[in-house]
Amino acid sequence: MIDAKTKLYGLIGKPVEHSLSPAIHNALFKKYNINAVYLAFEVDDLESAVKGIRGLKISGLNVTMPYKEQILEFLDGLSEEANAIGSVNTVVNREGKLIGYNTDGIGTLKALKRFTEVEGKRVLLLGAGGAGKAITYTLSRLAKVVVLNRTEKKAKELEKFGVKGEKLSKESLEYYLSWADIVINATSLGMNEDKTPIPKELLKEKLVVFDIVYSPLETKLLRETRKFGCLTIDGLWMLIYQGAESFRLWTGVKPDVEFMRKVALEALK
Ligand code: ATR
Repeated sequence: MIDAKTKLYGLIGKPVEHSLSPAIHNALFKKYNINAVYLAFEVDDLESAVKGIRGLKISGLNVTMPYKEQILEFLDGLSEEANAIGSVNTVVNREGKLIGYNTDGIGTLKALKRFTEVEGKRVLLLGAGGAGKAITYTLSRLAKVVVLNRTEKKAKELEKFGVKGEKLSKESLEYYLSWADIVINATSLGMNEDKTPIPKELLKEKLVVFDIVYSPLETKLLRETRKFGCLTIDGLWMLIYQGAESFRLWTGVKPDVEFMRKVALEALK
């Protein structure tokens, strides 16, 4: 029941109306008897939105496009990870101080670990955008990582995290697909379109293939690599594990990810 003690959490971004986060977090608040609600806020003016968060003492937030980098200057502190990658997807209001975190990297790592060993493995990451950067930062600490990106400069920029960055081309793909144990698609290729970053003739067996795209859930990349005998992981797992980390930061509760996935699948219908 909503009463005078109900805490408010939410998502800020633009657009936000297709987000699964309100369904997932509200279901979790109910499951764990936490007196809180989670709403989606479409924000036009970030600075005044952050002032409103402070003024209304909103307890915590998720941040999505296009504000994940822009919000940094308005916060009071950053986690080591958020600081290193320059991007925030979770804000915690700690007694009036707004602290920024980024759970995209740890979310991806935990999702991967659910299905496979990661430590010491060879990871081929496609994409050096916002998500690619967070994933690189986290995985570079425990695996061997090569990043391929359409725009070479962005792949090279990630070399500061101790990984190798190269231009995404047929040649580089062919070479590193033979090298890799795990392939992660962190490009937006395949989102709402039946396209894949890996041409059929380059497919290899026995890879673990993780696509962070979750719309559609069964991307062309996952469909084709599974047919080839690869172990496939869909992008909803990434969404769920990064959300689980946000929930834990806000409430101290480590939520049931199976339950979160059920809620998310229902909301996707
Ligand atoms: P996100 O926050 O989801 O990571 P982003 O920062 O816009 O989104 O990054 C999108 C990623 O998808 C980038 O790596 C982009 O490559 P560029 O850096 O060259 O733009 C990649 N991408 C998008 N469309 C692509 C395509 N058709 N082929 C290859 N890579 C693509």
